[in-house]
Amino acid sequence: MTSTHPHPAATAYGRLLDHSNRHNPYPHFAELAKEPVHQLDEHNWLVTRHADITALLRDPRLSAQNPAPTDPDAPLGSDGKPFRGPLLMLDPPHHDTLRQRTMDQFVPRILGMRPRIEAMVADLLDRHVGTGSGEIDVVAALAYPLPVGVICALLGVPPEEEPVFHSFAGRLTRALDPVETLTEQEITQLAVTQRDWRAYLMPMIEQRRAQPGTDLISGLLTKGDPATRMNTVELAVTLGLLLIAGHETTVNLVANGTLALLRNPDVLDRLRADPDLAAAVVEEVLRYDPPVQMNGRHTTADIVVAGQVVPAGDHVQLLLAAGNRDPRRFAHPDRFWPERPGNAHLAFGGGVHYCLGAALARMEGQAALTAIASRLSNPRLVVDPPPYRPNMLLRGPEEVRVGYDAVT
Ligand code: HEM
Repeated sequence: MTSTHPHPAATAYGRLLDHSNRHNPYPHFAELAKEPVHQLDEHNWLVTRHADITALLRDPRLSAQNPAPTDPDAPLGSDGKPFRGPLLMLDPPHHDTLRQRTMDQFVPRILGMRPRIEAMVADLLDRHVGTGSGEIDVVAALAYPLPVGVICALLGVPPEEEPVFHSFAGRLTRALDPVETLTEQEITQLAVTQRDWRAYLMPMIEQRRAQPGTDLISGLLTKGDPATRMNTVELAVTLGLLLIAGHETTVNLVANGTLALLRNPDVLDRLRADPDLAAAVVEEVLRYDPPVQMNGRHTTADIVVAGQVVPAGDHVQLLLAAGNRDPRRFAHPDRFWPERPGNAHLAFGGGVHYCLGAALARMEGQAALTAIASRLSNPRLVVDPPPYRPNMLLRGPEEVRVGYDAVT
């Protein structure tokens, strides 16, 4: 039966939003997943099951676009219409044009990156792990600097600017959280950060326009059909999106993966013995503890989900993390089991917004987790569970302290 009473679901959803449950939201996802659909309040719904989420991600009647009327003073996009936001928050057809343009420049640049990523991982671990016994915070030492280094390499940003990117990434990410989890002060601060980000990027964009290089920014500015080229606002916002979407998510993948390996020493041993297991380990981390826990859409028509009519204009949260533990789709869903057959997890979303950086994220996750397994002798968690950052949507630990023995 489908729940139509707002209060019980709102309470369970409230427990998900509650920071004190951040270290283990899965019992609360499981509680919600007893029903396929919940109405939270008059216009807000939750969808919990794998099959429904998969179908809705591909349903053109669901929109990722902000339904609010556009600011009359907004600059124009390259389609000649008022600019509405990053491609993650746009619907076709303009979404598809911007995505294709980004892919055309992004994909060829990441194809050969694996050796460089492995070298970056080795270098970061060299800085923090010696031959004696010790302790490493995997988040600060590896999970944070790796994706920012990779994005800066793609954008042609010099290493000395990486701390600036790093700082923006952390602050901009809060923009993706449900607004009810933000304080007034955080909302004001976010607007300031978004303005500062554009101001910081503009000189870099103008410099690449004047002297294009081989980097992604230059490619987006100067290559391809001039008729569909991004304008400056779209470019700045796309770069912000790549930073937010590609940074904190990958941090969480590496951090969550480290936790999963150290809590499942048999898998750690298997990965150490067989680095080829890394691909399956990363897919299972993405299912078991997904860096993006849910995503939101609104309906542009009345739709029926699991027998329940969701009216046009309402907001729907697709609980990716609940779908990833749906027993109808995954045998033993609470078990961390890299060899599981048919691991069609929802961690990268689906449909037209399917993660554009999935291949890059996989490379980074595989390189980092393989190195952790092979470099650290007898690794163990110093604090379990670790403290978590406030973010709910892009959920991950603030630090993962790992003790290790001397190499004998
Ligand atoms: C979209 C997850 C890494 C760039 C998405 C979406 C998810 C996701 C769930 C769809 C959101 C929605 O439907 O509303 C992840 C995870 C990652 C990761 C779990 C790491 C483990 C990356 C990386 C990049 C990236 C490394 C690029 C550097 C993007 C972009 C979109 C996107 C640009 C928007 C695509 C569109 O709207 O067409 N990602 N992502 N992501 N991701 Fe990722």
